[in-house]
Amino acid sequence: MPKAKISALGCFVPPRVLTNDDLSQMVETNDAWIVDRTGIRERHIADLNIATSDMAVAAARETLKQRGIEANTLDAILLCTVTPDMLFPSTACLVQNQLGAGGAWGFDLVAACSGFLYGITVAAHLVSAGTHRKVLVIGADTMSRIIDYTDRATCILFGDGAGAFLIEPSESDQFGFIGQLNEIDGSGAPFLNMPAGGSRLPASAETVAQRQHYVKQEGQQVFKFAVRKMAELCEKMLRTHGLTASDIDLMIPHQANKRIIAATAERLGLPNEKVILNLDKYGNTTAATIPLATQDALATGKLKKGDLVLFCAVGAGYTAGVNLWRWAF
Ligand code: UT7
Repeated sequence: MPKAKISALGCFVPPRVLTNDDLSQMVETNDAWIVDRTGIRERHIADLNIATSDMAVAAARETLKQRGIEANTLDAILLCTVTPDMLFPSTACLVQNQLGAGGAWGFDLVAACSGFLYGITVAAHLVSAGTHRKVLVIGADTMSRIIDYTDRATCILFGDGAGAFLIEPSESDQFGFIGQLNEIDGSGAPFLNMPAGGSRLPASAETVAQRQHYVKQEGQQVFKFAVRKMAELCEKMLRTHGLTASDIDLMIPHQANKRIIAATAERLGLPNEKVILNLDKYGNTTAATIPLATQDALATGKLKKGDLVLFCAVGAGYTAGVNLWRWAF
């Protein structure tokens, strides 16, 4: 079985920045509270003429450019998002068309903040099955379209962005996908969701008046689950592969809250320098945090060829996942 590797990466964030001070003009909050409780300082917000597919295409084009290949060589496009352009057709179809990826099939993958990890897990298996040679996984979310900017408990957390990995067969067994430990726990659905706009509660004047087309979150419930689950899955992954924290070169976690990340790292015994934290610049971009954090890790020289990388995430659903990869470039 060929081993799957990550061969290229590309990201996009919209240029407009929303700072904590900007938010303090909109709701009763302040920079000190937001930085202290979350670690976030600013986030990027897409202008109204930009939708998720536009950001996804920009990230995809950058990835193809990095690898020096044309879109028509792609075999599949997996688009991880909770903010598709529309319910159907899938955003993967819109992206495939805009890119001119004539040879690709694909689909949208809805797993919220764990979406990108689920996407690269699926891509790794498509490649190692020998049936696919180039799978593009894109995490893209325009969270600002589903955020209630009168709710201070959620509007401070989220931002917009997109990122992509290209997954291909590895020439060497040394580099690439090692393992996954992904889970869902649907008992968490009431604590983080967007109630209306689906078949349960279709759009109506009432759903709009009741602000039900926005993200609703019980922050403390999600926080407690995230801290427990992220550490539990990481520890299990290490045990399964006979590893200890000192074998891990870098942890690239989903960027939701610096306190969740710090608690996970502390429980694993990972020092700060082995943990990527960039949510100060982007906030929580849902499916895009992991590629954005990986791009920063590369740009700052923290991620190098041969590094053993632990990716981890928890999100709405609940969804949760851990992936272990040996970095290939
Ligand atoms: O990506 C996966 C999904 N999401 C997450 O991982 C998020 C998980 N949860 C969290 O990150 C945190 O729970 C939050 C950042 C959302 C909230 O932090 P917290 O430390 O759990 O605060 P809290 O909800 O317990 O609220 C503490 C206080 C409350 O005031 P009282 O009741 O103590 O008087 C809130 O009303 O802080 C107040 N508060 C705020 N104050 C200033 C809540 N939001 C704000 C705000 N500015 N933006």
